[in-house]
Amino acid sequence: MFPSKNGILLAPLAGITEPVYRRICRRLGADAVVTEMVSADGLHYKSENTAKLMEFDESERPIGVQFFGNDPERLANAAKFAYERVRPDFIDLNAGCPVAKVVKNGAGSALLKDAARFGRIVEAMSKAVPIPVTVKIRSGWNTHEWVDAEFAKISQESGAAAVTLHPRSQTMMFTGHSFWERVAVVKQAVSIPVIGNGDITSGADALKMFKETDCDAVMIGRGSLGNPWLFAEIKAALKGEPFVSPSRQERKELIIDHIRAFRDLHGEQRACGEMKKCVAWYLKGLPGASAARANVFASSSSIMIEEIVNNFFKV
Ligand SMILES: Cc1cc2nc3c(=O)[nH]c(=O)nc-3n(C[C@H](O)[C@H](O)[C@H](O)COP(=O)(O)O)c2cc1C
Repeated sequence: MFPSKNGILLAPLAGITEPVYRRICRRLGADAVVTEMVSADGLHYKSENTAKLMEFDESERPIGVQFFGNDPERLANAAKFAYERVRPDFIDLNAGCPVAKVVKNGAGSALLKDAARFGRIVEAMSKAVPIPVTVKIRSGWNTHEWVDAEFAKISQESGAAAVTLHPRSQTMMFTGHSFWERVAVVKQAVSIPVIGNGDITSGADALKMFKETDCDAVMIGRGSLGNPWLFAEIKAALKGEPFVSPSRQERKELIIDHIRAFRDLHGEQRACGEMKKCVAWYLKGLPGASAARANVFASSSSIMIEEIVNNFFKV
């Protein structure tokens, strides 16, 4: 059954949740992961770079491939293509992305402005593949003009297997705090599983989300950045067990593994660019981190970044 009861999912984060990060999160306790959003239009125009975003390693399962777009037929074709090419465990529709370049094409959270089209999309995608199709929505376009329960119901009626709610409006982008009470409203409105998302950064937060909303599973995005141990922390909290934070040695080993695996998969140029922000997240809040972070950002190779990490954890 998807998602597992009390499951903890890694959220799709464009530019961040590539395969190496997803594997780390699975290893540390995420029950399922989702790819970065993949453009259905990109696949329609046969972009190989777009198709690459769907690729994953078997160790990442269960995994969903997430699509964004606006056209029911293109989205259904994208779902079918993903099913045939990479056999994911589920397909997810993005109806939450607030960024201008996505919503100007009527995709992401712009779908929340057109209930009929949204229903057609979910139905077409659900009919296109023999695996679960899930939907990720925001609570609405304008703050307090909530349409989440309505769109969750449409999702259910159109064949969706589960709905994830990030209870912010499009206009909030990522500011303020998410309105968790909306997760409770959506949970009451549908019988398919509801996944609660937004601002969970600790085991206590996750317990609170489960308790206040009765959601079936939670999804974690930004809270895991630099702290993928959050999944284990939440697992421990759910079992009522104490959580032991990783030692300095464990932190160092994970960061070094992350850099090396990323370089192996994506090559040195991307590793040098993208590992800087990643390592900065890992070091954030640790004593002496600001000087090390400055050195990380000044490095010209991923080997230099590794050296800075090794020296940082030596002292
Ligand atoms: C950098 C970034 C990229 C994101 N990319 C996606 C995406 O590709 N698809 C999606 O549905 N949501 C995306 N989101 C939204 C997250 O999945 C999640 O809903 C949101 O960050 C709230 O959860 P959090 O507070 O746990 O991060 C993105 C968010 C951020 C900050």
